Amino acid sequence: MEEARAHERSGAIAEAFACYRDAAEAAGASGDHAIESEVLRRLAVLHHRRNERDTAIELATRSHAIALEIGDSVLAGEALNVLAGFAFERGDMDEARGRFREALALGGTSPGLRGRIEQNLGILANVRGEHGEAFAHYRRSLEGFELSGDQKGRAIAHNNLGMVCADRQLWEEADGHFRRSLDITRTVGEVHLEGLCLLNHSEVHLARQRYDEARTSAEQALTIFDRLGSRLDKADAYKVLGVVYRETGRFTLAESRLQGAIEQAVATGSVLSEAEASRELARLYQAMGRNQEALQLLNAAHRLFSRLDARVDLVDVSSKTTRLEETYFAVVRDWGQSIESADSYTFGHCERVASHAVAVATVLGADQGQLTTIRMGAYLHDVGKVKVPHQILNKPGRLTDDEFAVIKRHPVWGVELLAAVEFPWDIKPIIRYHHERYDGTGYPDRLKGDEIPLGAQIICIVDVYDALTTTRSYRGAMSHEQALAEMGESRHWWRPDVYVAFLQAVGSHPQSV
Ligand SMILES: [Fe+2]
Ligand SMILES: [Fe+2]
Repeated sequence: MEEARAHERSGAIAEAFACYRDAAEAAGASGDHAIESEVLRRLAVLHHRRNERDTAIELATRSHAIALEIGDSVLAGEALNVLAGFAFERGDMDEARGRFREALALGGTSPGLRGRIEQNLGILANVRGEHGEAFAHYRRSLEGFELSGDQKGRAIAHNNLGMVCADRQLWEEADGHFRRSLDITRTVGEVHLEGLCLLNHSEVHLARQRYDEARTSAEQALTIFDRLGSRLDKADAYKVLGVVYRETGRFTLAESRLQGAIEQAVATGSVLSEAEASRELARLYQAMGRNQEALQLLNAAHRLFSRLDARVDLVDVSSKTTRLEETYFAVVRDWGQSIESADSYTFGHCERVASHAVAVATVLGADQGQLTTIRMGAYLHDVGKVKVPHQILNKPGRLTDDEFAVIKRHPVWGVELLAAVEFPWDIKPIIRYHHERYDGTGYPDRLKGDEIPLGAQIICIVDVYDALTTTRSYRGAMSHEQALAEMGESRHWWRPDVYVAFLQAVGSHPQSV
């Protein structure tokens, strides 16, 4: 068995297989069942790595049964820990958790095994977004490793504790754990772990806006990953460096680092790293005013994250998707506001339209996805106005027919402007049809009745309300009551249920701006 383990460590897998099989046979024949159980378990892990799952499970199950027969609870616990790990990797989280707990009950008297099982339970909790529970497991795993004198285990435990503290924004504690983990990795020469720890630590510096320290740590990590040829880790280090440069206003460097991160992630097939680097590059483009490119990247990131949703072995994809949607809103809101600043009379228009539209849609029973679509569409509904000449947009007094004809093109221009952007939400109909009216007197396509998408109808009614209640270049603002009276006269512009929902959501709450 020792020979087999040496082969395994040196990467000679075929030789390791042969030795383990011989050892299993010999141990079985001589009645050394403890050795037999251990060999079968190690063989199971090798089979699992080759994707031979059924064989792997069968061998680990035999290892477990033999250990129970000879009354060796620690060996039985080891076998269960391996079986639980298999369940985890195939995404069967409940089975994994149950098995890990059983393993702990059987083999928890061995501090080393306890350290490893608690570590696995911690990872499992973390994947489910249960940070408090993860923290408790990692703490107990640290205790186990300290008792058993497992230095690498201690370093991993501190690194995990640092990450979970960072997730809970306990920066001081995270900082302390990463420092301790780094000390240990450097003492025992665990270079790869040292690199990961430096990188995680740099993200904490970044969150605390300690940009010099973040850059130093990330560069040290990058040097290690370069030496080890670890391209996936390099992608993540490039990402952190790109964010540091972005946050300190060095946009050219930031762009090259973030593009480098995406390239490395694509080359290694890491969807998560690619998605995260794309999101960060989108935020750079947003800061540079390159809004279309920002949205294209956000869409790319959104597609990548939704591919990840099916993966269960990754940390908390849903919270990452939520953060991505927040970035999305930030970009479209920013863009909407940049149009408002060209049109001095409409400051705050998009924000008010968005909140009123969401209120109306809620009354109409829209679900979360529909609300997101409405809000996104509200921020961008007038984006085509960037192409309307400034003197027309801000003209005091009435517009000529020709000038009004130019204004009326903004819904089509808006859709053209976003032609290259494929949104995960169906917002283009909202932009194109937000000036259509139920009675067919709107523009640009003179749609009628239910030809007009509901989202566009909702934006239309709250858009009219906002126009009436704010000062325009050609008239003063109406009071809430005057606006409602005026809109009552034109109620045939909207589908009856939309009009009623508007009255309910906005009509009775003039202050909810
Ligand atoms: Fe408009
Ligand atoms: Fe508008």
